[in-house]
Amino acid sequence: MSILQPPPSSLSKVFYSDNGSTAVEVALKMAFQYWKHKGIDGRNTFVSLRNAYHGDTLGAVSVGGIDIFHKTFEPLLLKTYKAPSPYCYRCELGKTYPHCKFACLGEIDSILYDHAGEIAGLIIEPLIQAAGGMITSPSGYLKGVKELCSKYNILMIADEVATGFGRTGKMFACEHEDVIPDIMCLSKGITGGYMPLAATLATDDLYNAFLGEFSDMKTFFHGHSYTGNPLACAAALACLDLFEKEHVLENLQGKIAVLEAWLQEIVQFAHVGDVRNAGFMAGIELVEDKETKKPYDREEKMGWRVAHRAREQGVFIRPLGNVIVIMPPLAISEQNLGQMMKVMKETIFAVTGS
Ligand SMILES: Cc1ncc(COP(=O)(O)O)c(C=O)c1O
Repeated sequence: MSILQPPPSSLSKVFYSDNGSTAVEVALKMAFQYWKHKGIDGRNTFVSLRNAYHGDTLGAVSVGGIDIFHKTFEPLLLKTYKAPSPYCYRCELGKTYPHCKFACLGEIDSILYDHAGEIAGLIIEPLIQAAGGMITSPSGYLKGVKELCSKYNILMIADEVATGFGRTGKMFACEHEDVIPDIMCLSKGITGGYMPLAATLATDDLYNAFLGEFSDMKTFFHGHSYTGNPLACAAALACLDLFEKEHVLENLQGKIAVLEAWLQEIVQFAHVGDVRNAGFMAGIELVEDKETKKPYDREEKMGWRVAHRAREQGVFIRPLGNVIVIMPPLAISEQNLGQMMKVMKETIFAVTGS
């Protein structure tokens, strides 16, 4: 049986756009207007996570949680409630794995308990907060979030812009925990990165709330010049064909195992505090002191220095502060993956000095 899964059949309605931030803006507006059409007022805010990244437009920034990107714009942003990032290596609630998961879910529970009547939806990057530092959530966390959304009748928005289309080893990250959100945001891998395209998927229930007579004015007013661009859609269809023809997901499983084996070697280094991955998305967190987890000072630009040196060896990677991001193309050969990780291992050792 093929492991290529379409999005859950309950997410049958699609709103096309052209980038991840817009997919998120659409999701937020849709969720907000949904409650209005249901005759429920006051659901004017959202819950999102610290360390979240959902894009650079103002709605998306409002539900973001990374100071370096978002803080400047604070006076312009929508009101949101911030829940802890499930960052077990540096748990802001002072817990260690797996207690970090329960503590983080407990915080969401209390936000929803106190404010459910104000909240249109909760938005989350399933399994891994990418731009926040490749922060993987503990197993069962995503399912726990979904259960809380259901308990308090809050819409769950899964932002799969980074994780969708195979990145985590399954077509969508939500599949790992059998979670079906109310809204799903997709972009990036939808065209293999060749053309700008995005999609916001929604349930029939959401869609039906927007139906009515002309005079009811229930229309979802959101449009862009390149919404559903046919060339971009053609690229997406070609990309989906490749998933099937080249057995991309099946072939990826072995490559994920190779990547994990390299990460387990790299974590032995004196200045590597943590390695983490969700399938083919990984982060290597460099620390000044492994024992105390003391981070390198920003001014030392450790991540940048590793990236710069790796580039001299022909490997192009991106740092997020002290976290080295590893996101190889899904189509990479095992041989190239090995070469890449060998360079990363040598480079980290050389730059950190041990
Ligand atoms: C999870 C997530 N959501 C949204 C976005 C924004 O996508 P775009 O850069 O296409 O606007 C990104 C981009 O990195 C992302 O990682």
